[in-house]
Amino acid sequence: MKVTIIGGAGLVGSCAAFALQLGRVVRQIVLLDANTDGAAGQALDLWHGASAVADQVILSGGYDHVPTSDLVCITAGLRRKPDESRLDLINRNVELFLNILGEMQRAGLKQDCLVLVVSNPVDVLTYLAAQRLGLPRQQVFGLGTLLDTLRFRSLIAGRLAVPPTQVNALILGEHGDSMVPIWSSATVGGLPLDRFPGWNPAAAAEVFARTRGSGAEVIKLKGGAGFAVGVAIAEVVESAALDRRRILPVSSVQNGCYGLRDVALSVPSVVGRQGILATHEIELWPKEVQALARSAQVLRQTMDQVLGRRT
Ligand code: 2OP
Repeated sequence: MKVTIIGGAGLVGSCAAFALQLGRVVRQIVLLDANTDGAAGQALDLWHGASAVADQVILSGGYDHVPTSDLVCITAGLRRKPDESRLDLINRNVELFLNILGEMQRAGLKQDCLVLVVSNPVDVLTYLAAQRLGLPRQQVFGLGTLLDTLRFRSLIAGRLAVPPTQVNALILGEHGDSMVPIWSSATVGGLPLDRFPGWNPAAAAEVFARTRGSGAEVIKLKGGAGFAVGVAIAEVVESAALDRRRILPVSSVQNGCYGLRDVALSVPSVVGRQGILATHEIELWPKEVQALARSAQVLRQTMDQVLGRRT
């Protein structure tokens, strides 16, 4: 699989490229960025390590790589200020994002090309990309709450001192302030989280609050997330590249899952070579379904403002 990362010079794009290099799954990684020297430098730095990792092609380039790409990952965008919400960011990012979509269309996309949106606010920009690129709906999706889900699992593991890979817990909905913790199916080593020794409502509230605030926390400490976003991107890309059909909480324009339509947000989604092959409407507690609907409402209001759309 050939993957082109638009925004490849940046922290998120370069961490995604590094995660894909270490994953050894994709065949070619192209770093594309308005900062051409930055993209060339990241690609060279990655290439220097290639002889110890895998026989991949890693280079920087321009939009001429888009027509031969199997997946285009868009990480370009301005970062939030510590006290700025993702949605506040949209006005600053939508112009940049529309220009990128225009360049992609002018370059030409393979009919089976997948597009993974990471730029924030990812759900609104995913909707925009799905609307504008003219690809089949299932081929355009966003990283959504997979990053929040990874953070949620790791923070639960830290609180309970259990192996993070044995925590299964989901965040669905908006990759943003209205994100929804799914406690109803959370487990540790296959055991129900809510009955796990040391777990209690106070721990739950604290861990979710920290998950929800993790983006801003990392921005405050180091300017922005990179490693965990890169790992999340690689999980999605490699599920597509190998047609693994992993069930991942990623963002796509909904068509009825949990009664949601015409809005992009994260629900359990099957990710394969053709993109989002299906979504799973797993049974949730009523309050979780209500919170998902609220998340959709928040996103729709923002889309109405930004995209001038009247629902
Ligand atoms: C985050 O939550 C970049 O939105 C991403 O850190």
